[in-house]
Amino acid sequence: MASRVISVDPFDFVAFGGTGDLVRRKLLPGLYHRDRVGQIPAETRIFGVARADMDDAAYRDLAREAILAHVPEHEQEDEVIERFVARLAYVAVDALGDTGWSDLAARLADAPDRVRVYYLATGPDLFGEICRRLDRAGLVTPASRVVVEKPIGKSLASAQVVNEAVGQVFAETQIFRIDHYLGKETVQNLMALRFANALFEPLWNAARIDHVQITVAESLGVEGRAGYYDGAGALRDMVQNHILQLLCLVAMEPPASLDADAMRDEKLKVLKSLKPIGASEAGRVTVRGQYEKGAAAEGAVAGYLDELGRSSSPTETFVALKVEIENWRWAGTPFYLRSGKRMAERVSEIVVSFRPIPHSVFDEAAGPIHRNELVIRLQPDEGVKLHVMIKDPGPGGMRLIRVPLDMTFAETFAERHADAYERLIMDVVRGNQTLFMRRDEVEAAWTWVDPILTAWAASGEPPKAYRAGTWGPSAAIALIERDGRTWHEDDA
Ligand code: BG6
Repeated sequence: MASRVISVDPFDFVAFGGTGDLVRRKLLPGLYHRDRVGQIPAETRIFGVARADMDDAAYRDLAREAILAHVPEHEQEDEVIERFVARLAYVAVDALGDTGWSDLAARLADAPDRVRVYYLATGPDLFGEICRRLDRAGLVTPASRVVVEKPIGKSLASAQVVNEAVGQVFAETQIFRIDHYLGKETVQNLMALRFANALFEPLWNAARIDHVQITVAESLGVEGRAGYYDGAGALRDMVQNHILQLLCLVAMEPPASLDADAMRDEKLKVLKSLKPIGASEAGRVTVRGQYEKGAAAEGAVAGYLDELGRSSSPTETFVALKVEIENWRWAGTPFYLRSGKRMAERVSEIVVSFRPIPHSVFDEAAGPIHRNELVIRLQPDEGVKLHVMIKDPGPGGMRLIRVPLDMTFAETFAERHADAYERLIMDVVRGNQTLFMRRDEVEAAWTWVDPILTAWAASGEPPKAYRAGTWGPSAAIALIERDGRTWHEDDA
């Protein structure tokens, strides 16, 4: 099945933080892939912007290296790489000073009407200042868009400050708050599954669904990001954004269309229906963990504190939560969320566990009747499995077994999938905000997260230790098992 390439108009892409990790690992390789499939029009230009002194040639070398390092070898084509790097230029700009802004203006001046994407791949403390200076330099045209990365703040108050500063310069329709989880193939498939099939929606409620689990487990540790991570922790780094967005897509009412505001209105309603977790509930429905030394695929690995070089830290590298949604569709169906670093495996999935059948017509010899489960796997092995009961084939009477109806995408659709960033960048160019967070969504998520952080800080309890390479502290298992449920394990 050939993928369709939807053409876009020529654009200017300006990456602040142009020499940084995100640009090298995701943005340049992503744009290269789009160029390779012929989606990037000839006139399109890409500007790296950072403080370092560098000329265009050196920046092209940096981009070549990034592509060789981060694009699989069989997708590296010399001719395309050269065509791609020829689009690149570099402008030295001091985000906090006056240097370079007029140079940037001069480079962009010949195409004032062209779509301009300002991608702020910098720390959030620079977002406001960069926007102000873009404005002052006359660089914000009607066709300009700004992309901001998470973390947007560390709390509701600090998120409001960032949103306010960006909002003084750009209209909400020009602001693209990126959450790369929304660009993942399977996340989009969740919407297709729910809204392009008649099968699921009638069952999609508390009467039919016992509970939902969302797991985003990483096998890596903090990987040299301890400086940022220690001020954040798993709740801010993963739950406030990625996991709550997944929860919204599972729980929201069908929007009237995929129009950006129709979608975001529905997600916002979910965020506003989350049952608050304050000081009196936090101990019961949340678990925090921090990894100690242990074993990973690469062998023995250090604990978080060793990586940090400190003897203690209150930062959680793992979190599990039992979340309730207080509305008619979901009251009585808990959502169990967990995310952590240095877990036993890298796996991200959503498990929708249906209620048991009301009555069995089978006798005991048939064996147990397991619940139906819909497992939406984001990574690795993207795909969807629907676990159903069938008769064990062959003679021997009526015995039942549970098997997955398996739609592993790698097997079903052999071609390469666009990476999340790649897809989202092109949405920015097209001006489609459906997969980007609106200001009120980000702030509603913080409104729910803030009291949990406050409760943890007030409790004074340190996070519970877990060995690297495990599924987190045993309290996380108890969190779900005391409700008579278990975390999903892949059985097929
Ligand atoms: C980022 C977090 O947003 O998402 C990282 O800051 C995390 O800590 C990453 O590792 C996970 O993304 P992915 O796409 O690898 O699951």
